[in-house]
Amino acid sequence: MKHSTKVGIIGAGPAGLTLALLLQRKGIDCTILENRSRQYVESRVRAGLLEQNTVDLIRELGASERLDKEGLEHHGVYLSFNGVRQRVPFKELTGGRCITIYGQQEVVKDLIQANLDRGIEIVFEAHAKHIEGIETDNPSIFYQHNGEEHELTCDFVAGCDGYHGIGRQHLPKETYNEFRIEYPFSWLGILANVAPSSDELIYAYHERGFALHSLRSETVSRLYIQVDNDDTVDNWSDEKIWEELSIRLGTEGWNLQSGPIFEKSITPMRSFMIDNMQHGRLFLAGDAAHIVPPTGGKGLNLAVADIRFLASALTNWYENQDDSLLQSYSQDCLRRIWRAQDFSNFMTYLFHKQAPHGSFENLLQKSKFDYIGISKAQATTIAENYVGLKEI
Ligand code: FAD
Ligand code: PHB
Repeated sequence: MKHSTKVGIIGAGPAGLTLALLLQRKGIDCTILENRSRQYVESRVRAGLLEQNTVDLIRELGASERLDKEGLEHHGVYLSFNGVRQRVPFKELTGGRCITIYGQQEVVKDLIQANLDRGIEIVFEAHAKHIEGIETDNPSIFYQHNGEEHELTCDFVAGCDGYHGIGRQHLPKETYNEFRIEYPFSWLGILANVAPSSDELIYAYHERGFALHSLRSETVSRLYIQVDNDDTVDNWSDEKIWEELSIRLGTEGWNLQSGPIFEKSITPMRSFMIDNMQHGRLFLAGDAAHIVPPTGGKGLNLAVADIRFLASALTNWYENQDDSLLQSYSQDCLRRIWRAQDFSNFMTYLFHKQAPHGSFENLLQKSKFDYIGISKAQATTIAENYVGLKEI
């Protein structure tokens, strides 16, 4: 079966869904093809930290009703090193910017609803198989849906299909360099029905490994611990998880509250990057083009930042027949992506155990941590990267 649209979007993650809303606002037709079912993408547990820029965009798109009610604004973060805790305040260091805690699956639910309300077509359980004609004016996406073969012809293809998607596979190999770090540790993440034990996030280095205390609401906590890459959730009973978290996050006069755990999963940590995100009529955005380790909370925010550039570039092409922003798309995105790669890598090395306690590398970690407490410049560097730079 043949279909056509102006912009064919592969993937209904944060990237694809925000792109469709921005294009629809400008009267540019698009169709989203999504591999999974609606129920699956709406319940996939992932990130939870939204930068101010991301919240601003969701507001601008008129999809923030629930976010405004249920999102939790944070004006600082706790950093801990072997039980010594310090706070980095965002407000005074970044001119009033903050972060908002709101689960990615809630963002995805809100964006899907907004897309459907505005008549944007999302084809769930549509498996994009290959793309043809990206060097012509009419590329096509070939996909399977309900056991049938379909072809979507369009003016542009947006590969918003994540790290394992097909978009990046269609970028000619000679057009980009690839960079990759596979870290020798993973995160075991849990969701638990218990009130958060801290009003703000806690990132902790401990000689037994990294831990992070985050949250989703006043009654749901989200926590992570560093585990080996070959570890499995079966090795981690609820009791063992709480015991380990309590040791790693601990500080004098503070107690971690435990409660029933209702979700456990392990995520490997990697940095991945390509230095060109486009070829002909194919444009990549979000995890399709870059992965950061989650220690800086940047993944989702970077995906949305790419989309701002892509939506402006496509709009400029349709409204003014001007392709200059399309030409500069990769370069425009890469400045922010490299900054986020550096910050995420910095936070990862600062807080994870990778060298024996008391080794040279470990003492450098400790020195970096202490420096945050004595230098306003260093604290500002962390704060401005964490809340998200406005300027790039
Ligand atoms: P995605 O959200 O991955 O969306 C891509 C979509 O494309 C998916 O819905 C997928 O089903 C669809 N798709 C793929 N292939 C096809 C195909 N062939 N045809 C049709 N559709 C296709 N970031 C943080 O900041 N903090 C975290 O704690 C954190 N935890 C994470 C845990 C996991 C397990 C993963 C995978 C990522 C995590 N991230 C985290 C990163 C963050 O969730 C991503 O950066 C964010 O989802 C990127 O959005 P996206 O739209 O680019 O990609
Ligand atoms: C989360 O709440 O899931 C979260 C928060 C901060 C991070 C990573 C994950 O750096």
